[in-house]
Amino acid sequence: MKTVKVGNVVLGQGMPAICAPVTARNAAEVLVQARNIMNSPADLIEFRADYLNKYEKPPALREALQSVRMEVPGRPVLLTLRTTREGGQADVDDKQYKKICMTAIDSRSIELIDIEFSRGKTAGEIISYAKERGIKTVVSSHDFSRTPSASVMVRAMHDMAATGADIVKTAVMPSGTEDVLEVLSASNTLKQELDLPYIFISMGSEGAFTRVLGEQFGSCLTFASVGRVSAPGQMDCDEVDRMLRVFHRAQAAPQKETPGHGNIVLGGFMGVGKSTVAGILADRYGKQLVEMDAMIEKQAGMSISEIFEQYGEARFRQLEGELCSALSDYDNAVISCGGGTLMREENVRKLKKAGTIFLLEASPDTVYERVRYSRTRPMLTGHMNRGYISWLMKQRDAAYHAAADVVLTVDGVNAEDTVAAILRHMS
Ligand code: S3P
Repeated sequence: MKTVKVGNVVLGQGMPAICAPVTARNAAEVLVQARNIMNSPADLIEFRADYLNKYEKPPALREALQSVRMEVPGRPVLLTLRTTREGGQADVDDKQYKKICMTAIDSRSIELIDIEFSRGKTAGEIISYAKERGIKTVVSSHDFSRTPSASVMVRAMHDMAATGADIVKTAVMPSGTEDVLEVLSASNTLKQELDLPYIFISMGSEGAFTRVLGEQFGSCLTFASVGRVSAPGQMDCDEVDRMLRVFHRAQAAPQKETPGHGNIVLGGFMGVGKSTVAGILADRYGKQLVEMDAMIEKQAGMSISEIFEQYGEARFRQLEGELCSALSDYDNAVISCGGGTLMREENVRKLKKAGTIFLLEASPDTVYERVRYSRTRPMLTGHMNRGYISWLMKQRDAAYHAAADVVLTVDGVNAEDTVAAILRHMS
């Protein structure tokens, strides 16, 4: 399946992305909802323009979108004007629909726009307008009254794909488990047939579980609420994030096995226990301990937090990079990296020369419990909560995995057992 990159989110591979709707009616609500989303694991934001008072007036819409952009940097925005005939709040004709969508596209504050397939020719015009301006499109269809048969839904998804959409979406209402199975069956069929990412949802309480099975049945994105629910069956963002992670772990690919060589390099997110494990390896097995953060602090004559405060993150990353260059001189050492060290390819290249990279992985819940009272984690200043940790972890996941020679899960595993696993790999 083709993947689509929206901002820094890749749709169509791995765990489905989570999209949290903003259903604010006015500027004050926009601020509150956006700030809550900042501290959630949501990968994208859906701005539901149809809830906004005066959404049909360009300044009101533009200001609201800019405010979301400012409050939640780094998370792509999907603009949706859901009309009453597809379960939303906007009662508009084709001309108004087009004008509002074009205002949003021109605002430069969105990356993605939802376009209702049922708008026909108008939909086609908006798709072209968006494409010319580099905005990705989700062509969608919603039926709040029933679930058509799987074959009808599959055909409809093909028709939507033929519009030139980047992503296609179907959401339907079930009445009974059979209807939910139709959705799963159609979604599964599309895995083989469609060469673009898609979203498939069975709504309501009966269909709720389809919202967390995207990785298994091919759906690339799921909508989850932070506070207010915007569609029947939508579940809480944190809970959806946890469920997606559970299913992802259950079917994770077997890890790479490499023969051990040279030093032991420990990487991974803050709070996974890199320092504790490194300490045991050094004390008990006579390895030299290289605590990168401590070395940087010593060389700089100030704490990491002070470096961040006085010179900014960029300076810290530079010092970290310089230290990586010096590490290939070590022998029989255990190198404990900072949480961000593996994010830079040049660091990874240097570390690979120094030894075997072990990635220690933990769930956001475990990390949060371990770091929640820490005052030495500037990356989490102002965002010491599970949701933000989960989001930052997802930002790092691909780079971490690309760097790792061996991945070890540490949830519920004590440091001694992690040490034993590392030594097995190195022998
Ligand atoms: C960072 C993690 C910290 C430290 C710095 C930046 C990060 O290391 O290097 O605060 O970007 O994740 P720990 O993982 O040891 O907390």
